[in-house]
Amino acid sequence: MPSISDAQNPAQGCWIVPSTSADEVHVQVDGLTMAYGDFVVMRDLNFVVRRGDIFIIMGGSGCGKSTLMRHLIGLKRPAAGKVLIGGASLWETEGEERDALLRRLGVMYQSGALWSSLTLAENIGLPLEQFTDLSAAAIREVAAYKLALVGLAGFEDYYPSEISGGMQKRAGVARAMALDPEILFFDEPSAGLDPVSARRLDDLILELRESLRTTMIVVTHELASLMGIGTNSVYLDVETRTQIALGRPRGLLEGCRDAKVQAFLTRGGQAAPAGPTERANGEAG
Ligand SMILES: Nc1ncnc2c1ncn2[C@@H]1O[C@H](COP(=O)(O)OP(=O)(O)OP(=O)(O)O)[C@@H](O)[C@H]1O
Ligand SMILES: [Mg+2]
Repeated sequence: MPSISDAQNPAQGCWIVPSTSADEVHVQVDGLTMAYGDFVVMRDLNFVVRRGDIFIIMGGSGCGKSTLMRHLIGLKRPAAGKVLIGGASLWETEGEERDALLRRLGVMYQSGALWSSLTLAENIGLPLEQFTDLSAAAIREVAAYKLALVGLAGFEDYYPSEISGGMQKRAGVARAMALDPEILFFDEPSAGLDPVSARRLDDLILELRESLRTTMIVVTHELASLMGIGTNSVYLDVETRTQIALGRPRGLLEGCRDAKVQAFLTRGGQAAPAGPTERANGEAG
């Protein structure tokens, strides 16, 4: 059977992609062009997210990372091309079928916002109230379980303002997981966190993938995150308005000669940070 990566091998750019069989494909972006009115943000995006990938969307500020995420979660209609989730096209399904498709996706937005007037348990319970027939007691139980998964057992009755920024992000992850999504999306999850909290959030993303086998799609420009957790990535180039690299971030660092990709992956003269398993033990928390 021809692999998807063979079919997509263009003449140039850095395409360091393992061959992928059709049943490994979780999300497929096919000839996607994204635009706001006449303004084309990116064109001809083609890539595959495999089941269990931690897929990183990377690129400079304003290149279209958040816009791409909006296309992947069905908030924005492509100007051209398709987004397929488990083989189903987001814009070719309607009604209940489309709702069911969207319910398989969990999202943590760039702003992260929890409702400040609701407790953590109530924040996480909200999507459950909306989309399930669970009783109030069952919803509370699920909320407590999700909070425990992100290391916030016992914080059910706290309000967002009573916990730290890192804990708020974790609670945002718990809310994104409320409906047991197959795919979790994160837009700049560690933005605004100190390095230790950011690293703990990266570790949480890894742990959740290990324990729940969820596919993760992460927008980030944090080098530590990309190198430590990414199993695959796409690089969006703001100048040419299309993707110019695909592959594991670490593989691109080692094998991609493109000057822009190299500059992005090594910017600030930072050495590639160690992956989580290589990090020293005994770090706080
Ligand atoms: N609602 C909108 N209407 C018109 N243009 C928009 C809209 N949202 C974003 N843009 C433009 O589209 C481009 C991509 O924006 P986007 O927010 O997706 O970039 P980004 O890569 O997420 O940036 P950042 O790194 O700052 O988060 C930018 O030029 C932006 O100004
Ligand atoms: Mg953004």
